[in-house]
Amino acid sequence: MLSLLCALTLVTRTLAIVGAQVGADGITNLFGNSFGLPGTNATDDYIVIGGGTAGNAIAARLALANHSVAVVETGTFYEIVNSNRTQVPGYDFYSALNSVGSNKGQSLTEFALETEPQVGYNGRKVVYVAGQTFGGSSASNYMGYARATFGTFDKWTKLTGDDFWTWDNVFPAYKKSCHFTPPNYQKIDRKANISYDAGAFDSTGGPLEVSYGNYQGPYGPYFDEAMERAGIPRREGLNSGTLLGYATITAAIDPETATRSSETSFLQLASRNSNIKIYPQTLAKRIIFDEQKRATGVEVRTNSVTNSFTYHLSATKEVILSAGVWHSPQLLMVSGIGPAETLQKHGISVVNDLPGVGQNEWDQPWMELSFKVNVTTGSQLQAGNEEVSAKLVEQYLTNQTGLLASIGGGQALAFEKFPQLYHQQFSNKTRKFLDTFPDDLSEVNYLSLEYGDNPPGLGPDDNYITLGSALSTTSSRGNITIKSADMADGPIISPNWLLDQGDQEQAIAALQRIREIAFNSTIVQSEYRPGSNVTSREDILEWLKENMSLIYHGASTCKMGPKADKSTVVDSRSRVLGVEGLRVVDASALPFLPPGFPMATVYMLAEKISESILEGN
Ligand SMILES: Cc1cc2nc3c(=O)[nH]c(=O)nc-3n(C[C@H](O)[C@H](O)[C@H](O)COP(=O)(O)OP(=O)(O)OC[C@H]3O[C@@H](n4cnc5c(N)ncnc54)[C@H](O)[C@@H]3O)c2cc1C
Ligand SMILES: *[C@@H]1O[C@H](CO)[C@@H](O)[C@H](O)[C@H]1NC(C)=O
Ligand SMILES: *[C@@H]1O[C@H](CO)[C@@H](O)[C@H](O)[C@H]1NC(C)=O
Ligand SMILES: *[C@@H]1O[C@H](CO)[C@@H](O)[C@H](O)[C@H]1NC(C)=O
Ligand SMILES: *[C@@H]1O[C@H](CO)[C@@H](O)[C@H](O)[C@H]1NC(C)=O
Ligand SMILES: *[C@@H]1O[C@H](CO)[C@@H](O)[C@H](O)[C@H]1NC(C)=O
Ligand SMILES: *[C@@H]1O[C@H](CO)[C@@H](O)[C@H](O)[C@H]1NC(C)=O
Ligand SMILES: *[C@@H]1O[C@H](CO)[C@@H](O)[C@H](O)[C@H]1NC(C)=O
Ligand SMILES: *[C@@H]1O[C@H](CO)[C@@H](O)[C@H](O)[C@H]1NC(C)=O
Ligand SMILES: *[C@@H]1O[C@H](CO)[C@@H](O)[C@H](O)[C@H]1NC(C)=O
Ligand SMILES: *[C@@H]1O[C@H](CO)[C@@H](O)[C@H](O)[C@H]1NC(C)=O
Ligand SMILES: *[C@@H]1O[C@H](CO)[C@@H](O)[C@H](O)[C@H]1NC(C)=O
Repeated sequence: MLSLLCALTLVTRTLAIVGAQVGADGITNLFGNSFGLPGTNATDDYIVIGGGTAGNAIAARLALANHSVAVVETGTFYEIVNSNRTQVPGYDFYSALNSVGSNKGQSLTEFALETEPQVGYNGRKVVYVAGQTFGGSSASNYMGYARATFGTFDKWTKLTGDDFWTWDNVFPAYKKSCHFTPPNYQKIDRKANISYDAGAFDSTGGPLEVSYGNYQGPYGPYFDEAMERAGIPRREGLNSGTLLGYATITAAIDPETATRSSETSFLQLASRNSNIKIYPQTLAKRIIFDEQKRATGVEVRTNSVTNSFTYHLSATKEVILSAGVWHSPQLLMVSGIGPAETLQKHGISVVNDLPGVGQNEWDQPWMELSFKVNVTTGSQLQAGNEEVSAKLVEQYLTNQTGLLASIGGGQALAFEKFPQLYHQQFSNKTRKFLDTFPDDLSEVNYLSLEYGDNPPGLGPDDNYITLGSALSTTSSRGNITIKSADMADGPIISPNWLLDQGDQEQAIAALQRIREIAFNSTIVQSEYRPGSNVTSREDILEWLKENMSLIYHGASTCKMGPKADKSTVVDSRSRVLGVEGLRVVDASALPFLPPGFPMATVYMLAEKISESILEGN
């Protein structure tokens, strides 16, 4: 035992990676002491359900403070089951880009949840990807890192009545979670001229790595120019509490290795330096409550292809639920917390009747317009051009640069309120609704991507670009409910995109605005999607209903809020109402969907709640 521990320490100190130590050739080492023993009941201070974005962060903070922590994750390490697709940033389009439809649901690192038919999308069912691996959705996502705004936290503080959430109190937590590396112009073309807010970061922050990757596509400066012409001002980065404007997006990439920063951050830090116990391939089936409605543990099942063990993990302090926007409310429901009527229908005994569980889902309908351009983009890589791909692989492996070393987009990521002219065209109802949001909160964002919708028969010199747009201030709310009392059955989900007519007005405006930006750029030669024949409001709306999809930013299905609000699920410290010893800490617990991109705020939430727990609150 002693020699094993020594070897463990020695190896891990030297190579600085535990749990899964990965070389360029794939997985090379696993260390048993970081793992729980499947099939054996065990007791820890805390059990964290879901080794995803928030789960790993909160588990790590508690474990590093010398608490014993078990992390239960239904997936395993993406380094093992997804070849190099998760690690190499430039392969993100396989999981994150809707246009690459054929890949959906074919990865072992994702749940491929299918929505109910979406009325606002002409009755289509859409695949909603969610990470199913250590790292969770941070291992599927585009890695874009952008924080929320001052106004967001004024609203959050007012809603909860808790000063814990003022900007001054959350800014340090945003900083604490990550370590920033400025652009490296040895690798990135100087023409990218990236401006950034260095004061948004702290040199002692981490372990999440945030950077610009080691590449910015040549299209970038042209779109910067187009933004300016369209009246969107340049910003010094998107991480200091203001968003209206454009900047190059920061991304969760470790620039030294040019790999995705995901489970490699918090989980591996804790594996190296604490007694965290990891349970891969382990599904949390039910949270167990005692007579006093205190969460005392979790019934779990660990699976291999031929074996499965069901057993109990006990928590002496708390159970923390971090299973994500769809599975956290599902697990609450199957464990007896949720709308009583629904639970009874499935024979689940009611621990607490909380009608808000699974309701109030905020999401962002997303559109992708595709334009032909006369600079080189990722079209050839995406289309599988072997010569181009081989060159990019060589560049990546030799110098950790080139298209594969970045997220393939995000330059000129812009946030805005629709310009005055557009507001004037909205109905009074829509205008009134939009007026309810803080002054600094964006209504819409625009994201440029190297990848996208290429026409069939792409020539070897043809290059396309995507200008996408997500609507932030929609009024339709989605929901999730259960099919059965068993977590092995997926949830029934309905994001309800474009259900409201006001949301449709905003979608039309976003499409028109994208065109305005695109045709202010000198590199755009023609519009491929939707095409120059789609111009009337009716045709635009029809195209949108047929073609809009999602950007996977769902939140608030177990919303934080005031206790007087019947749809509140957790209090201002993420404690589930009406029971003891149970918190929800993930995107589902956000009071509403913050602007920016959610990942940064999900990490911040995990930092804040661990701070609260460690302070005894
Ligand atoms: C394709 C895609 C692209 C995105 N792009 C961006 C982006 O560029 N920038 C950005 O900021 N955000 C992006 N997002 C959103 C962002 O990634 C999420 O908001 C965030 O990661 C959510 O974190 P979470 O902790 O709530 O859940 P997750 O990170 O999804 O973690 C939930 C974890 O729980 C596990 N789990 C679920 N049920 C159980 C169970 N019963 N037992 C055990 N484990 C369970 C899951 O396997 C998963 O690991 C994207 C998301 C996706 C899917
Ligand atoms: C955790 O325990 C170690 C070893 O006993 C000790 O060195 C360290 O200071 C402790 N950390 C905290 C945060 O209490
Ligand atoms: C870079 O951007 C700044 C604005 O942030 C601008 O003042 C400067 O002229 C730009 N430099 C180049 C070389 O384009
Ligand atoms: C460029 O943007 C401006 C301001 O938004 C707009 O009026 C103009 O029509 C756009 N130009 C083109 C060619 O679309
Ligand atoms: C594991 O815990 C469960 C629930 O407390 C109990 O029913 C079961 O007997 C335990 N198994 C063993 C082997 O102790
Ligand atoms: C990723 O793996 C594939 C095989 O699955 C290989 O062809 C490709 O060269 C690898 N890419 C990099 C950047 O190593
Ligand atoms: C790597 O960088 C060096 C130095 O800039 C350069 O000479 C070499 O061509 C690059 N190799 C590849 C494969 O890009
Ligand atoms: C919208 O509101 C304005 C006043 O703000 C009013 O004059 C107008 O009649 C309203 N339009 C409709 C269609 O209600
Ligand atoms: C979800 O929303 C849809 C559309 O409003 C509605 O038809 C459905 O009943 C809702 N489901 C639940 C569980 O709330
Ligand atoms: C792209 O086309 C425009 C005209 O549409 C031209 O002015 C510009 O020089 C071209 N750029 C490149 C890089 O070829
Ligand atoms: C636009 O043209 C495309 C391709 O020719 C066609 O499929 C589509 O139906 C047309 N749309 C409209 C609104 O005319
Ligand atoms: C987009 O709409 C067109 C009709 O305009 C349709 O042919 C196409 O299949 C749609 N694409 C998607 C992804 O729904």
